[in-house]
Amino acid sequence: MRAPAGDTAPRGACYSLAAMSLPEIEIPCPDDWHLHLRDADMLGAVLADTAAAFARAIVMPNLKPPVTTAAMAVAYRERIRAALPTASAFEPLMTCYLTDNTDPGDLAAGARDGVFTAAKLYPAGATTNSDAGVTDVARLDPVLAAMSAAGLPLLVHGEVVDDTVDIFDREAVFIERVLEPLRRRHPGLRVVLEHVTTAEAVAYVRGADPARLAATITPHHLVINRNALFAGGIRPHVYCLPVAKRERHRLALVEAACSGDVHFFLGTDSAPHTVAAKENACGCAGIYNSVTALATYLAVFEAAGALGHFEAFACRNGPAFYGLPVNARRVRFGRGAAWQPPAQRATGAGPVQVFAPPLELCWQQVAG
Ligand code: NCD
Ligand code: ZN
Repeated sequence: MRAPAGDTAPRGACYSLAAMSLPEIEIPCPDDWHLHLRDADMLGAVLADTAAAFARAIVMPNLKPPVTTAAMAVAYRERIRAALPTASAFEPLMTCYLTDNTDPGDLAAGARDGVFTAAKLYPAGATTNSDAGVTDVARLDPVLAAMSAAGLPLLVHGEVVDDTVDIFDREAVFIERVLEPLRRRHPGLRVVLEHVTTAEAVAYVRGADPARLAATITPHHLVINRNALFAGGIRPHVYCLPVAKRERHRLALVEAACSGDVHFFLGTDSAPHTVAAKENACGCAGIYNSVTALATYLAVFEAAGALGHFEAFACRNGPAFYGLPVNARRVRFGRGAAWQPPAQRATGAGPVQVFAPPLELCWQQVAG
């Protein structure tokens, strides 16, 4: 579902690349619909980067131990609010980590009380801190029925955990084996297929009712393919899950994000790990991109000639899916000289490598 032909300029935006020497766009403040903020020593530093760029974020629950109850989510939300920079209006939107033992009553009450904005399905063993995840999705049916009734979206890490399935095929196989049957069993359930990485996922999402199925797309999957993992040696700082795929998949993601299609919206999957945990014989999966995410997305949209669709992707499609208002506060981004991101961000847990995309970062927020 593309935006109507001719609808290429963001509503109310001041945007004229040709006429201005320093092009600018003005849009509602973007949101991040998939984010890892961590906790304790790491939370403050990474939260400051997100709060500087985004008005709201869907906060992933894969802490140790995971956020599995409404009470745990309330406590985590308090820790996030306490760690916010003074005067920040950033709003964390909390999620529940589904397990084999999730209590549908607690989940529904958490949704009703405005604690939970969504719940997250991690197949057990699929990614970082997913050991407590769901071992058999069929056993989740009572929980999914309660979520359908409560209108609570299901966020999905869409990879099968199966050693006989090649790691580069796990997303496409998940759609066929798990997601499509699940959606048939629960036709009223609203689902976000998180951090899509393949042409198959793009096509699958596109073919569904956008009120029932959507997808987030990360900045890194828009700019790297799987070659980046092995460029001159093994590159732990571009290792994440789902892992980057072939170039043809990257191109499908760029096309989807830049099309203005309501099914697709911004989710950074910014996932900080310390440099020590990444540069390791068994390095953790996850890329910390909060510092460079918006500039990376803007560079991709500009290169695709699609800046007019950036507002849909970054500011409108996410709220439309979640039934939330578009942010009233507006922000301006200007295109100027290339800027260098910091190589690392210091956190209380140790330094974290900042994602440096393989392109020039020329866009940044300018004072309102
Ligand atoms: C995430 C993390 O580190 O928590 N890692 C990642 O590679 N994306 C978990 C996830 O979203 O899969
Ligand atoms: Zn994630």
